[in-house]
Amino acid sequence: MNHLYVHLPFCAHRCGYCDFVTVTNHDHLHAAYVDSLIRELDAEHDGSPVDTIFLGGGTPTRTALPDLLRLLEALPAAHEVTVEANPETITPDLAAALRGAGVTRVSLGAQSFQPQLLETLERHATPDDVRGAFATLREAGFDNVSLDLIYGIPGQTPDDLAADLRAAIELGPDHISAYELEAKPGTRFTIHHGDELARQAEAMEDYFERVVALLTDAGYRWYETANFCRDGKRAEHNLGYWLGRDYLGIGVGAVSTLGAERRRNTPKLSKYLRGDYDREVEPLDEATRAKERVMLGLRLDEPLPLAGIRHALDPAGLARVRQLGLAEHDEETLALTARGRFLGGAVTAELLN
Ligand SMILES: C[S@@+](CC[C@H](N)C(=O)[O-])C[C@H]1O[C@@H](n2cnc3c(N)ncnc32)[C@H](O)[C@@H]1O
Ligand code: SF4
Repeated sequence: MNHLYVHLPFCAHRCGYCDFVTVTNHDHLHAAYVDSLIRELDAEHDGSPVDTIFLGGGTPTRTALPDLLRLLEALPAAHEVTVEANPETITPDLAAALRGAGVTRVSLGAQSFQPQLLETLERHATPDDVRGAFATLREAGFDNVSLDLIYGIPGQTPDDLAADLRAAIELGPDHISAYELEAKPGTRFTIHHGDELARQAEAMEDYFERVVALLTDAGYRWYETANFCRDGKRAEHNLGYWLGRDYLGIGVGAVSTLGAERRRNTPKLSKYLRGDYDREVEPLDEATRAKERVMLGLRLDEPLPLAGIRHALDPAGLARVRQLGLAEHDEETLALTARGRFLGGAVTAELLN
């Protein structure tokens, strides 16, 4: 196992669109939660170095600093250690403490630079908070900072999107993730913004093309469907997922993929704190792993090596997709063309057995 994910669920409030495992009003439990994480880590990992670690949330940077530092201290050595951060939580002291504790990369949840869109998303950070947090991280010496953006937000126009991309590019992050807004059916957010979400869904393809055009024109490499980087700074941890590698996830609701098994810890904080992981286990046979390898591998801009996974491909589908100019392949590898990458999942579905 070379990749370790650590989930920190605490948030100041719940943003309307968010479907991650988070809790609010539980700040008295930070110390107990970190104790539980360390207990789970000790049980699941022998302490040997790993390639990458990702602390995700929730809002990892909301965790009380002494507890967050205690956690970082207990983690195995890794050459990439990423922490997800909400802009309003970043202070010079926190940034310096993270640097001192061996964090190499920060992923900052900007989402948008338009005040009215941030309000629609129920975000607490203002555009100035995002810019300020970014500057603070740079001043603390972070040379690998990523910005998350969301598009397809109710009320967003193509000009708003262009302005967000320009604002992001102006800051000069090393990495940008640009996600389509996913709104879960039946939630308060989805019901409230129903018509506008439907209008945004119609525009998604056009937005996606604009995102890729603007970011690649600015010199970013479109190395994964929703991810862009400069100077070779791909997200090594996420690359592990896309390359179908095993990873251990610890924490409430955390998912692990280990050999022939995927498992998910209980999403209930009280159970997790008791050490009752109540894991949901999904067996992964060879055919399923090969399929996933194709679906994830084709999101990257590198050709997918076919050794050991050819059986997942439908030869007739492959011929059709090639004829349409959506994929290229030789004896050893398969890759989507730019047009194929824009169509994404639909092309992959056609290729699979
Ligand atoms: C696990 S979230 C946590 C990040 C952090 N708490 C924040 O809000 O900035 C990581 C990223 O996922 C993206 N995200 C979260 N919910 C999303 C949704 N419903 N649709 C698309 N992207 C989403 C956001 O860009 C966010 O920064
Ligand atoms: S701060 Fe991030 S993790 Fe927390 S509710 Fe908002 S989007 Fe979700």
